[in-house]
Amino acid sequence: MKILATLSVLVLASGPASAQQQKPSVEPARLEAAMQAAWPKTGDWQARLQQDATMKECTAHDNNPATAIADAIRKREQATIQYPENGQFLGDWKRGEAIAQSGYGMRFTDYPATRANGGNCYACHQITKAELSFGTIGPSLLEYGKLRDFKDAEVKTTYEKIYNSHASFPCSNMPRFGTNKVLTIEQIKDVVALLMSRESPVNK
Ligand code: HEC
Repeated sequence: MKILATLSVLVLASGPASAQQQKPSVEPARLEAAMQAAWPKTGDWQARLQQDATMKECTAHDNNPATAIADAIRKREQATIQYPENGQFLGDWKRGEAIAQSGYGMRFTDYPATRANGGNCYACHQITKAELSFGTIGPSLLEYGKLRDFKDAEVKTTYEKIYNSHASFPCSNMPRFGTNKVLTIEQIKDVVALLMSRESPVNK
């Protein structure tokens, strides 16, 4: 009974749907001042507040750009993708699992860096059956390779989606891991192996 009462309070507190859909109106100058006050002036932190062309377009179109703009974003982001020199896209799935688990890197507490960045993939995706703690902002990646028949073309596409999500999904919520130098080419190959190799627990 107590639980039910709490639930109904939560539902009421969230208000009518129309109120939720209204865009918050904050004066841009006030917003800018608040961000600047909260943000460090050292290192690369200021640069992180600068939107690139793609982010500006995504903001301007509420992450839902019309086809022509989406196509232009895809093309621009695709051009940033660097491929492994030997054309081999599959690394080591065990290292890939460690990268998917790790949220290390680029946070306030990670300077100076003492180890390689992680991809924090589980924050948004279900990946293996064994890991029960995962977020749901992104789709489940369980049986990812199996569902794609382990095809070579799909291995390459998976690499591209991880290297630069916007090349496949313009205005995606997923970070551009390769383009923004969060992960190296070798690390991306390792997470591709986690998703696409037959031996990976993702596909068992
Ligand atoms: C902040 C959340 C977030 C993080 C972190 C994230 N992703 Fe994603 N990912 C998404 C979303 C959202 C999508 C769906 C694509 C879209 O519509 O933007 C997606 C899509 C994908 C896809 C394509 C799925 C399909 O159906 O083709 C793959 C593969 C993928 N992510 C792998 C990864 C890997 C590997 C990592 C870690 C290196 C990762 N993601 C980290 C949010 C995230």
